[in-house]
This record gives sequence, C-alpha cells and structure tokens, in this order.
Amino acid sequence: MTDTGRLAGRVAVVTGAASGIGFATACRMAAEGAHVAMVGRREPGIRDAAEGAAGYGTVRPYVADVTNAAAIDRALAAITDELGTPDLLVNNAGVTVVGSITEISEEDWDRQFAVNLKSVFLVSRALWPGFSRLGRASVVNIASVGSVWAIPNDAGYCATKAGVLMLTKCMAVDGAAEGIRVNCVIPGYVETGMIRGYFDAQPDPAAARRQAVGLHPLGRLGTPEDVASACAYLCSDDASWVTGSAFTVDGGVTAGLHGDSPPEPHQSAMGGTR
Ligand SMILES: NC(=O)c1ccc[n+]([C@@H]2O[C@H](COP(=O)([O-])OP(=O)(O)OC[C@H]3O[C@@H](n4cnc5c(N)ncnc54)[C@H](O)[C@@H]3O)[C@@H](O)[C@H]2O)c1
Repeated sequence: MTDTGRLAGRVAVVTGAASGIGFATACRMAAEGAHVAMVGRREPGIRDAAEGAAGYGTVRPYVADVTNAAAIDRALAAITDELGTPDLLVNNAGVTVVGSITEISEEDWDRQFAVNLKSVFLVSRALWPGFSRLGRASVVNIASVGSVWAIPNDAGYCATKAGVLMLTKCMAVDGAAEGIRVNCVIPGYVETGMIRGYFDAQPDPAAARRQAVGLHPLGRLGTPEDVASACAYLCSDDASWVTGSAFTVDGGVTAGLHGDSPPEPHQSAMGGTR
C-alpha cells in the first residue's frame, strides 16, 4: 500500500470503518501517516477491524452509532484525548434498504436518512469547532452514483445520497473561510457487503451483478481501495484547492450510456485478463 507520508501529523476520523470502503480508507490513511480513529457501531466488529488495520499504521477503535449525537460526543472526547483534535473526517457510514416508494417502510426510509444523511450533519457538526480552532481541515463525504442517478428500486437510498451531495456543497461554501475543505466521492458499484446485499435482494442476483459490471465501461466493479485512494487524495494537501467537488470514482459508469451486458474479457495493459 502507498506510504507517501502526506497525511503525517493529521488526525483522521473514519465512520463505518469496520468493513468495506471505511475499513480500506482507514488502512490507506494510516499508511499515509495519519493517526486514524476508526468509528463503528459495535464493539467487537470495530475492535477486530482495528486489529486488522494495525499493520498499516496508527489506528484506534471507537464505538458510536453515528445517528446518536451523544454517542458521537463521547467518542470525540475519547479520540481527542488519545489521538488529538481531528482535522480529517471521512463520513462513510451508510445503509441501503432496497425498494421503490411503494415497497419501502416508513421505518426503513427514516433509518436510511438517519444513517446516510443526518449522520453527516451530526458528526461534522461535532468536529467543526475543532476544525475552526485549527484553521484547517478536510471532510470527505461518501456519496454514490445514486446521488446523481436513479437506481431502480433504491428510492430512499438515492434520495439520501442526493442530499449528501448538496450538503457537501453547502458545507464547502460555509467552511471555506475557516480553511475547512469539504468534498464528496461518488463511487460506482464497489465490491463490499453492501453491494452484495443489493444484488441478493434482486430477483436474479447473478444477472443483476452481470448487468452492473456491464454498466461500467472499465469492465469491472470497484474495489474499496479504489475509493480509499480518492479519500486520501482529497484529505491531503495535494487537493488544497479542491472543495465542494463531487469526485467521481466509478469506472466510467456515469460518463454516458453504455451497454447493459458484460464486456468480453480482454487483455489489460499489464498483460493479464480482466
Ligand atoms: N458498495 C457500493 O457499491 C457503494 C457505492 C456507492 C456508495 N457507497 C457508500 O459507501 C459507504 C460504505 O459502504 P460499503 O459499501 O463499504 O458497505 P458496508 O456495509 O461494508 O459499510 C457500511 C458501514 O457503515 C456502518 N454503519 C451502518 N450504520 C451505522 C451507524 N448507525 N453508526 C455507525 N456505523 C454504521 C456499518 O456497520 C458498516 O461498517 C456507504 O455510505 C455507502 O452508501 C457504497
């Protein structure tokens, strides 16, 4: 993994860090020198994840449900005490509950909004006074192609992610004078438990997966590491003039219309077949 040292001296908070994109991002940021607070909802899961990430650098586990302001405040107090005042934040925690508006329950609608959108507000609000004191910070919100595209049978999720995109821009405009940059990443379909759950909820999961691969001009789904490297870049001073952006990391899926069946395997530039 890349060890550039470009995040040395920074204190990062990554939410939803027990798995998938959050775990990969915590590893990547630790490898690049940040001291990383890995925040997860449950004790055993986040503790195990931090043990798994320990080889990359300085990481510590913290338990907080990111929909609960008091739990966030408790975690932040412990993080500040043990690692210092955070100046990097990746709002990654998310859930999806598949369904059109006639299929999804009100409870699941509210849960998605709480985890995917309200948490960005709650966690960012909690860290903001520290950002202001330091006079510099970078926030990355994990949005989705669902922020800009209607994914079939995923109405609630897409609505939350469209909100994340606009909240990113609002926070960027409000934070700029204080040296706080705020961007979001728009991942395509990424190989994690979440996307496997989405495929499994379709009538023909294998066909849904094949179709999803075929939508990506680059001919594969993303890896958590693809998204993690974008987060590390946006957090670093390499992106010092980047704020309010929706940074697309999607294998080309939103670039334009593309076939709906998988492309034939072909030789990659490295000589392998992918
Ligand atoms: N996988 C994809 O194809 C894809 C595409 C675009 C965007 N995303 C987004 O990427 C982010 C990460 O998802 P992933 O694909 O890695 O899936 P994932 O399910 O592995 O990760 C989501 C994490 O969020 C945590 N979480 C959920 N509710 C929480 C809460 N209340 N408090 C704290 N943590 C909570 C989960 O425990 C889990 O660790 C999400 O915001 C998701 O919407 C994923």
